[in-house]
Amino acid sequence: MENNRSLNRQKRGPAAARRKNSRRGGESDARRKEDRAPGGRTGRGHASKGGSRHEGRPAARRREDRPPAAPAPVNDHTKLSFPKAGNMLYPIPAVLVSLRDPDTGFPNLFTVAWTGTVCTDPPMVSIAVRKERFSYGILQRSKAFVINLVNEPLLRACDFCGVWSGRDLDKFTACGLTEGDAVTVAAPIVQESPVNIECQVRQVLPLGSHDLFLAEVTHVQVDRAFMDEGGRFHLEDAGLTCYVHGKYFGLGQALGSFGYSVRKRRPGK
Ligand SMILES: Cc1cc2nc3c(=O)[nH]c(=O)nc-3n(C[C@H](O)[C@H](O)[C@H](O)COP(=O)(O)O)c2cc1C
Repeated sequence: MENNRSLNRQKRGPAAARRKNSRRGGESDARRKEDRAPGGRTGRGHASKGGSRHEGRPAARRREDRPPAAPAPVNDHTKLSFPKAGNMLYPIPAVLVSLRDPDTGFPNLFTVAWTGTVCTDPPMVSIAVRKERFSYGILQRSKAFVINLVNEPLLRACDFCGVWSGRDLDKFTACGLTEGDAVTVAAPIVQESPVNIECQVRQVLPLGSHDLFLAEVTHVQVDRAFMDEGGRFHLEDAGLTCYVHGKYFGLGQALGSFGYSVRKRRPGK
């Protein structure tokens, strides 16, 4: 990208480059921030394709009359302070948490992105939950939940369960999802999810907007479809999704594997 830009700058000559630079100098911080937004699809950087397509035709508008082109994204690692210190740890999984009200027996589902692995032995995870959630009271009473990983077929339900409350509707039915049985906890699993992580709450830490539910993983169920005959689990085939700054994404191709940077390369590889 930088090479293309330098090339284009050279083609247009130093005056054009100076004009462009002075425009860039006048840009507001907000505009620059937008350039660096996740996904980075600003429509810029496509503007200059050499111009040969229109050669010989009368130009509808002269280049100088057009509104100034926005700057190409910077890539010199110059830093800007983000307007608000907040959670910017991405990508993260957005998961479907399933639970059951111990008093009514009703199941519920809600979406949680503030979740993470916190300990290997004993295996522990956390979910951060706002007190306002219908699920919060259920969790406090049941002390049990299941984290259901979200793959592409489940993504719409994942979003839906994050905007509707179990106070108002039965989300399992609304999403056409199946309540399966957990092996170790008093909560249903989402049968359609490729991985169901059964969790027993051990501690609740009040933090502020959210309470952190620290839970021990007591059992894991996986979809047989992703297990091969040798007993290897191919989670990479499950079509998992992730959440990045307000948007959902698929995972794309594998780029390496644990320790690949220090592994000896075989000749020809
Ligand atoms: C992508 C996404 C991530 C979310 N992450 C959380 C979270 O980490 N903690 C939380 O309390 N609410 C989170 N929510 C909001 C709840 O899922 C939402 O308020 C839901 O309607 C609560 O359902 P309930 O009232 O049935 O418990 C998230 C919503 C979405 C769409």
